[in-house]
Amino acid sequence: MNLKGLILSGGTGSRLRPITHTSAKQLVPVANKPVLFYGIESLRDAGITDIGIIVGDTAAEIEAAVGDGSRWGVKITYIPQEAPLGLAHAVITAEDYLGDSSFVMYLGDNLLRDGISDLVEKFVKNGPDALILLQEVPNPEAYGVAEVKDGQVVQLVEKPTEPKSNLALVGIYMFTPAIHECTNAIKPSSRGELEITDAIQCLIDRGKRVEPHVVNGWWKDTGKLEDMLEANRLILDALDTDIRGDVEDSEIHGRVVIEDGAKVSGCTIRGPVIIGERTVVHDCYIGPYTSVYSDCEIRNSEIEHSIILEQSQVLDLRGRMEGSLIGKNVRIVRLDQKPKAYRFMVGDNSWIGIV
Ligand code: DAU
Repeated sequence: MNLKGLILSGGTGSRLRPITHTSAKQLVPVANKPVLFYGIESLRDAGITDIGIIVGDTAAEIEAAVGDGSRWGVKITYIPQEAPLGLAHAVITAEDYLGDSSFVMYLGDNLLRDGISDLVEKFVKNGPDALILLQEVPNPEAYGVAEVKDGQVVQLVEKPTEPKSNLALVGIYMFTPAIHECTNAIKPSSRGELEITDAIQCLIDRGKRVEPHVVNGWWKDTGKLEDMLEANRLILDALDTDIRGDVEDSEIHGRVVIEDGAKVSGCTIRGPVIIGERTVVHDCYIGPYTSVYSDCEIRNSEIEHSIILEQSQVLDLRGRMEGSLIGKNVRIVRLDQKPKAYRFMVGDNSWIGIV
């Protein structure tokens, strides 16, 4: 069967503000790689090479980062969505592109440890009308929730206030063209979106076969800050040491990646840690679960369990920084001028903890 891929990378990054105020949340890096790239690689590894990407306001940025897909050996087609009117609306928008193909729909901010190759195989072999992935979560009200009886999906509800189970819908779905009659039949939800959850419920109501599969390996929806740090931790846990940059007078313990052009001197680095291209780290302690992206400068500071995006500076911190997410082009510096005072220039919805 010739399956297509449909990655949803439109929408706004409101829940990751201010980190993604102006840029796409799907491009925020996890272990120094944009979340979206993990999705493209999962589809490619499952043998899917014809991939449509739904884009919205951040289209230009996504296209610049992803290109035509040749880097992964896939063919990317960009599909503009007029506004983020819902996941089922995205499927309607992609109808011409999808034609009569079955397809894997992949939400661009989702990460699945074990990829999707086995699941795609199962979908092709069992031939249901749709295959959905589920995982038990402690806070089902934040997701689409499935009620399953005797291995059959009985009911699906999007973000219910009183969830009937703790089985959340993972943001990766496999559909036959049967989904199109349902995406076109449903009405907007109370949050004003055409929900894919309602479209799948419509398949069930019409007697189609919707196969559930509970995912065992970890899954993360990186749409929230705490989940970004957790995803970073999980990906770094599987890191292999690879030192390509320059290291001088430093102690490196555990699994550490130092990318091309990076310069590390006078440091103790305790992995898992990844230091990005052309980043300079001098006189520092960098502790477990830290990702520093490209073109940063970190001097005379201690950092642990944090993500620092490109072109940021952290200089002369007196206390250790931990559990932090620092955006692009941020400067955290020590000032010697008088009066001695804190000086902040901080975007909306930011959060600063001082000691
Ligand atoms: O992550 C799993 C959850 O994803 C599921 O449990 C829910 O059932 C499902 O509705 C979805 O919920 P979210 O509220 O997390 O979806 P979000 O609005 O964050 O959108 C997911 C991705 O799809 C994101 O990368 C943006 C993109 N998107 C979203 C909308 C609404 C589009 O491309 N177009 C859209 O219209």
